[in-house]
Amino acid sequence: MPTPLLEAQEVVKHYGQVHALDGAAFTAQAGEVVALIGDNGAGKSTLVKILSGAVAPDAGRVLIDGEPVRLSGPLDAQRRGLETVYQDLALAPDLDAAANLYLGRELYRRGLLGRLGFLNRAAMREAAVEAFAELGVSLRDVGVSVASLSGGQRQSVAVARAVAFASRLIFLDEPTAALGVVQRGHVLDTIRRVRDRGITVVLISHNMPEVLAVADRVEVLRLGRRVASFTAARTSVDELVGAMTGALDTIGEAA
Ligand SMILES: Nc1ncnc2c1ncn2[C@@H]1O[C@H](COP(=O)(O)OP(=O)(O)O)[C@@H](O)[C@H]1O
Ligand SMILES: [Mg+2]
Repeated sequence: MPTPLLEAQEVVKHYGQVHALDGAAFTAQAGEVVALIGDNGAGKSTLVKILSGAVAPDAGRVLIDGEPVRLSGPLDAQRRGLETVYQDLALAPDLDAAANLYLGRELYRRGLLGRLGFLNRAAMREAAVEAFAELGVSLRDVGVSVASLSGGQRQSVAVARAVAFASRLIFLDEPTAALGVVQRGHVLDTIRRVRDRGITVVLISHNMPEVLAVADRVEVLRLGRRVASFTAARTSVDELVGAMTGALDTIGEAA
C-alpha cells in the first residue's frame, strides 16, 4: 500500500464517561472514495472532527502523507487541502447561499492602488449558481438567506462549499440525510466527479446501498474502534451490517 494521504492511529477522545473514540484507526488513500460506517454513537462524527482539526484528540496520532501533524483548527486543515461538511453543517443562517459558499474566503474587487476593495458579490453569485447547478440544485435565488432554505438545500450549499475549495480531501458527514432521491443521486454523481479529479472523499452514510454504489473501500467503526475494512466490490450489505453490529466478528479484514 502507498503512504496514505490521511491516517489516524490509536485516537482516543472521551467526553466525561463517554468513550467516543477508544483507540480508533482510519486510513484514506489519495484519490479514493472511502466510506466510514458504524452504528449511531460509534464515533464517526467525532473522528471526522478530529481529522479535520475541529476537535483535539486526548491521545493518538493524525498523519498526513505519513507525517504526524497537530492540526491547530479547521483553518489549518483547510490550508492543507482538507474540506469538511460537518453533520451539523456549520453554515451561517443569516447569510445567503452565495455568501455561505465563500464564508471566510470572500472574493474582492481590486480597489484603488491594488488594495482590496469591495466584496465582489457578482462574481461570488455567478460561481455559486454554477456550483449549485453542478449539484443539480436549483436555488430560486442564491441571494436568499440560508435560514429560509430547506434542509436538503442547506445540505447542498454545504457540499458545494466543500467541493469548491477542496484540493486534496473532502469529509462528507451524512451529506444526503436530508435529501430526496433525485438530489441524493446528484450528490453521489458529484462525489464520483470529485474523485475523478483526484480528490479523496470520506463519506459517512447510513445508506448501505449508497455506500456500495459510490465507495472504493469501507471502514467500519464500532464503539470507538475500527473493527473492519472492506473493498467495496468484494463485500455486501449483509457483511457491512454484520461488521457494524458485531454479528459477524470473524468476517472481514479486521484491522
Ligand atoms: N461534544 C460532545 N459532548 C459529549 N458527548 C459527545 C460529544 N460528541 C459526541 N459525544 C458522544 O460520543 C459518542 C460518539 O458520538 P459521534 O461521534 O457523534 O457518533 P456517530 O457520529 O458515529 O453517531 C456518542 O455517545 C455521543 O453522544
Ligand atoms: Mg455522526
